[in-house]
Amino acid sequence: MIIAIDGPSGAGKSSVSVEVARALGFSCLDTGAMYRSVAWQAVQNGVDFDDAERLGEIARTYDITFTHEAGNPKPVGVSIGGADVTSAIRTAEIDRAVSPVSAVPAVREALVAQQQRIGRSGDYVVEGRDIGTVVFPEAPLKVFLTASNEARARRRVLQNEQRGVGSTDFETVLADIIRRDEYDSSRAASPLKPADDAVHVDSSDMTMEEVIDKICELARERM
Ligand code: DC
Repeated sequence: MIIAIDGPSGAGKSSVSVEVARALGFSCLDTGAMYRSVAWQAVQNGVDFDDAERLGEIARTYDITFTHEAGNPKPVGVSIGGADVTSAIRTAEIDRAVSPVSAVPAVREALVAQQQRIGRSGDYVVEGRDIGTVVFPEAPLKVFLTASNEARARRRVLQNEQRGVGSTDFETVLADIIRRDEYDSSRAASPLKPADDAVHVDSSDMTMEEVIDKICELARERM
């Protein structure tokens, strides 16, 4: 079974996905990490972000693999073309590069095919932007997780502090979140939008536990 969790950055998709997966015995698939990996490879290869052809080629030819650890629903690592990019894809440089890279239709086509292959191999909580609309439109549970801009920026600052990568300045993070949302929502290819049958969850005034409980309850109803 697939549980699709879509929404803008910083709404809590990653933390929520891991805990929902843990509670239900599912695995997690972080599709954002795949777009980030392609963006990282594009930077390494010196490819322009408007060179759609070469970006598509990277997405088609470089293998993206997740490393799993027994008993942990969240992969402990991600690599592209054999290079471990687990931390390297979380930098401010990749935050900026990933929007134009993920807007390229050929990149999306290649990654969506891989996501569908992975998802069909078991029970997954899949997080992204187009999971309920494009990747798994047949998923029995689709959640559109949102939060106010300020709540999302606050959480992202905390996350960056914990990880030791990315900006920890509130205003910088807030501006980046707004810019990225605009880009992700207005692009022609698979813009961020809720599926018609998605359940909307606004996490601004909810604790993570409340969000996790709500999604688990919805999932159990559909299992
Ligand atoms: O979830 P994230 O912040 O790691 O995602 C990184 C970028 O990738 C984000 O700007 C939007 C894009 N993305 C996408 O277009 N489609 C997805 N399914 C997942 C992420």
